[in-house]
Parts: sequence; C-alpha cells; structure tokens
Amino acid sequence: MFSKDFLSRRKFFVLAGATGASLLEGCSRSSRQTTSACTAIEALELQHGVTRRVLAVMENIKNGLNAQRDIAPEIAAGALGIVSDFMINCHQLMEEKFIFPVFASYTKTAELIGVLRQQHAVAYKLTDILKPLCLDIAKKDQENRRKAVNMIHLLTRMSFAHESWEDTALFPLLRVVAPGSAYEDLGSQFAREQNQFLGRDGIEPTLQKIARFEANLGIGNLDAFTPKAQDFI
Ligand SMILES: [Fe+2]
Ligand SMILES: [Fe+2]
Repeated sequence: MFSKDFLSRRKFFVLAGATGASLLEGCSRSSRQTTSACTAIEALELQHGVTRRVLAVMENIKNGLNAQRDIAPEIAAGALGIVSDFMINCHQLMEEKFIFPVFASYTKTAELIGVLRQQHAVAYKLTDILKPLCLDIAKKDQENRRKAVNMIHLLTRMSFAHESWEDTALFPLLRVVAPGSAYEDLGSQFAREQNQFLGRDGIEPTLQKIARFEANLGIGNLDAFTPKAQDFI
C-alpha cells in the first residue's frame, strides 16, 4: 500500500555530536529545568501524552467541520504540523530507531511491531493528504471538508489505538527484553535523541502551541471534557 522506503522521504535526524551540555537530563518538559533521570518508558509516556493532546485538537477540528463551524487554517494547519513534526518525525521515528529494534529477536511481538510500523507509514500518508486540505479549510468547500473529516477520523482512530497498544502490549516488555543496564542505556539514548531533535527547550514549546490551539477551540482546560448535567440526555 505504501512505499517501503517512506522513511527516506522523512526528515531523519542524526544521532551524532551530542555534547554533555545538550543531554536531556530527565522527564521535564524542558531540558533546562530538570535534574532527575528519565527512563525510556517515562519518556515514551510523556511523548504519547503530547501526541494525544494534539490528536484531541484534531478531533475537535473534525467536530467543528461536521458542525459547519469556521475553522481557522492556521489552527488546522498548525495542529497538523505538530502531528507531522512531533508525532511522526520525532516520536515515531525514535520508536523505529531505538524501541522496535530492541525487540528484533523477541518473536512474541514480531506481528505487533509489523502492524505498528505499517501504521506509522499510514499516519505519514494521511498527514500528507491532510496538508492541502487544512490549508484550504477557510474556503468552506464541502468536498474538501468531507475529505478532511474522513482523513482526520482515520488518523485519530488509528493513532489512539496505536498508542494504547504500545502502552499496554509493548512498552511494559522493554524491561524484559532490555534488562538492567541495557534498559538504563536505552533511556539515556532515547533522551539524548529527543533533545537533539527538539532542542534545549524540549517539549515545552510544542505544548505551548497545543495549549494555544486548545484555548482557541474552547478546550483549553481539562474540565471542558467533563460531561455536564445537560449532556446526560
Ligand atoms: Fe508507534
Ligand atoms: Fe508511540
């Protein structure tokens, strides 16, 4: 369905030349704030948290399109840009580079990892299709909107399931396939690469952008997701 060398078309960041000063020191959202060490699973969980926040923004955009609301192209394209830059080019690429290879000789997860890799490729393809649709969102072209709604639905449905399976069926096994110091080394390697890609401020600027989109869409606080009494109909 998709080119097997799709990775070559993606911005691949190189693990090289990281200095001690640039190492991510822990799980803080900013690499400049922290002193505590960060394990690989903790780093992955934080990255999944960020991707779920931006996927929730995409879901809200989809609901707005279905309700024929105006959606600013800078919000639609901006949120999609975070999906592309953070979820695909940072998070998923780090999984392919550091996490999946750890399971190479562990046959119990071979089929699962095959599906996860395929879904990474599909997410890339869906994001590529969505880019022009999001940029033209203000034109209110009904075919454009219908297609954008469908592509966002396919992306969010798959991505929420994808991350849930990684969190429950794959990541907990990391300590089994990489015991002791191997697991600690993996955490350091993973954190170093994240810092290399995101820079000294780490995840914080990405979260600030997501927070601006959330505020604009009326989901700027967690309570916005709590059903109210009038919703129980
Ligand atoms: Fe993944
Ligand atoms: Fe993931």
